[in-house]
Formats: sequence, structure tokens, C-alpha cells
Amino acid sequence: MRLFIAIEAPAGVLGALDEAVAPLRAAQPDLRWTGPEAWHLTLAFLGEVGEGVVPGLAARLERAARRRPRLDLAVEGAGAFPGAARARVLWAGVRGDRESLSRLSGSVSAGARRAGAPAMNEGRRLRPHLTLARCRTPSDVRPLVAALASYVGEPWTADRIQLIRSRPQGQPRYETLGSWPLRASG
Ligand code: 2AM
Repeated sequence: MRLFIAIEAPAGVLGALDEAVAPLRAAQPDLRWTGPEAWHLTLAFLGEVGEGVVPGLAARLERAARRRPRLDLAVEGAGAFPGAARARVLWAGVRGDRESLSRLSGSVSAGARRAGAPAMNEGRRLRPHLTLARCRTPSDVRPLVAALASYVGEPWTADRIQLIRSRPQGQPRYETLGSWPLRASG
């Protein structure tokens, strides 16, 4: 099964972002837009993982989460991969303690590796984002990025991580297999 580890945002944060994104969907309907039910901040993408690995993975993630502090985050601005002039992915940015977020990503990736499910993005710089749309062909999304440039969402405290199964053809597309709390203080 295809797995990844992520942080989810509260419904209110996603709803507000959805309202900001609505006019952009209408302006560029040729993009493959995602909805709030699909928005998450990926910490580690594991790719295909055998079912037998999951119990060990869960134990490692529980331990990694317990050692890392909660994070104060907010959705802020937008950007695109690989760039806004010929984008493949349009995303909303995430403001907060980047250093802690990057350490958390490193910790869960190390845990996943020890469980036999190495993250495909391990060792690469984390670029925290929520994917808003994917482009069928490289597209100029500079007006969309500009429209969201001044967007700042309500701050929230991320207090847990999720292990999520992705089913590209499935309904629902994402299924949470487990969730573990981050350390309460410090
Ligand atoms: P994306 O949001 O930038 O598309 C489920 O597919 C999650 O894992 C998505 O958030 C997706 O990132 C991420 N993901 C998919 N393939 C990936 C890869 N090869 N490397 C890193 N992250 C990936």
C-alpha cells in the first residue's frame, strides 16, 4: 500500500483556505484542483510499503512523535513546483517553526527507515506545503500565486502526526491508518 506521514490542519483552517481558493478554481478550471478533504502537510512520503511493515512502523512513529514538540503553524501565501511560470503543482505555503518541522520530518523519516519503509524524500530539504492543484501540462500559475500572496490563515497548534494511506483510484482517496501525539511541552 502507498503510505505517507503528514500533519493535518483543523477544519476551520481548511474551510477558510477553501473560501480563498474558490475564485481561483473558477478562474482556472483546467487545473486538477484538490479539495480541503485532501489537504495535508506531508512530512515523509514512503511510497509502496508491505502490509507486514505497518505494525513496526506504527511503533516507530509513536516513539518519534513523542520526542518532538508540538508546532505552531499557519497557512501563508502560495507557490508552485518547479516554478510558477511552468508549474506542475500549485501549493499553499506553511508558516511556522521551519526548523522544528524539518526535525520532525527527519525523525519520522528515520523511524520509517528503521521499520523498513524508507522515505523517498529523506535527506532532501523539506518544503512544507499543501497541494492545491496539479497541472495536466506545465502551466503559468503566476496570477494564482499572486492572488494568494497576501493570504494568511488562522494559526493553529499541530499536536499529532498521521500515517495515511493514499489510494490514487480509491474513494476516499486518503485513509488515516494511525495518529500519534507530539510532545506536549518544550
Ligand atoms: P504533493 O502534495 O506535493 O503532491 C500523498 O501523495 C502525499 O505524498 C502528497 O502530499 C504528495 O506531495 C506526497 N508525495 C507524493 N509523491 C512524492 C514523492 N515522490 N516525494 C515526496 N512526496 C511525495
